[in-house]
Amino acid sequence: SRIVHITGARPNFPKAAPVLAALHGRAEQVLVHTGQHYDDRLSRVFFDELDLPEPDLNLGVGSGSHAEQTAAVMIGLEKVFTERRPDLVVVYGDINSTLAAALVAAKLLIPVAHVEAGLRSFDLSMPEEVNRRVTDQLSDLLLVTSADAVGHLAREGVPADRIHFVGNPMIDTLLKHLDRFDEEAARSTHGLESDYLVATLHRPANVDDPAAVQQLVATLHKAAERMPIVIPLHPRGRAGLEKAGLHASSGVKLVDPLPYTAFLGLVRGAAAVLTDSGGVQEEASVLGVPCLTMRPNTERPVTITHGTNRLVGLDGVLPALDEVLAASRPERPAPLHQRPPLWDGAAGPRIADVVLNWLAAR
Ligand code: UD1
Repeated sequence: SRIVHITGARPNFPKAAPVLAALHGRAEQVLVHTGQHYDDRLSRVFFDELDLPEPDLNLGVGSGSHAEQTAAVMIGLEKVFTERRPDLVVVYGDINSTLAAALVAAKLLIPVAHVEAGLRSFDLSMPEEVNRRVTDQLSDLLLVTSADAVGHLAREGVPADRIHFVGNPMIDTLLKHLDRFDEEAARSTHGLESDYLVATLHRPANVDDPAAVQQLVATLHKAAERMPIVIPLHPRGRAGLEKAGLHASSGVKLVDPLPYTAFLGLVRGAAAVLTDSGGVQEEASVLGVPCLTMRPNTERPVTITHGTNRLVGLDGVLPALDEVLAASRPERPAPLHQRPPLWDGAAGPRIADVVLNWLAAR
């Protein structure tokens, strides 16, 4: 059978890599890159590092408004799916490319498998929440990373036989490359001699909102008075953060987006991570690094109950940081029994088995 995988943006790549690897030689696979992310540092470097095959196709959709971007992916994929007639389309995560692919496949009566289904922030002001909900309604196979996702899908009327709790393929990638996350190399690259913090920010609610971004920048500069803070800047937030006064100093190290292993080496050695990313909450939890998530909600509550994550509003960052820095450090990486269930490095093979059994039974 022919399986077409849809990827488009940085967070997709470490999720797709173990699924493609586990299906290798067991099905015909086509890898599509929509081109939603096109900067080498958000795309190319992940293919080089994560043993991902070269994409068979790159749609080159690039940036635009949500409608423009989603529409461009839809128009491109309609052609691809019509020509290649896949038996299954596999989509990842919650980006615009995920939603666009699910919509096109559903209209062409091609089954969809959604990897990382069922996550919910219940915050429809996040574009990703819209993408998650609609994608799940259109999916035939819902592959979930945590038990709470099963409940969300059941309550939305998804039949139980479509839902498979398989674990977290992004954590397969993390565990596979763990030995390459070199905190000493990160320290020397960034000139860090003492304990340090890492921050990542890119959510519209933080970097596009003028009042929020001002407070955020002030908070980051205050955090840097405790210890140096390294901030790899996503292109999306860079201009807004700099306009709001974020500037490099002896304590604030602004750097370009980092390759996968360099970023996780930096995180691995950090005293704490401040973030508004989804994936970083999960990665920090498994690495055993305290994570302060600067958001009002998270679609990944298992990182709070079974990880190192806590939610902090912008007012709460510094008090929470001081608490975390005063507490004893959690074990690094987190031992298996303290991790979320099935975040064990074998999600890719489980997904491959579910997918192939499902295709065989059709
Ligand atoms: C997207 C995902 C988000 C994910 C994030 C990871 C959606 C709705 N959002 O957000 O869930 O956490 O990727 O990075 O799909 N840009 C570049 N170079 C690029 C890509 C983007 O400079 O290669 C800049 C452009 O100014 C662009 C902006 O970033 O307009 C936003 O890019 P976009 O792909 O729309 O969304 P992200 O914010 O990256």
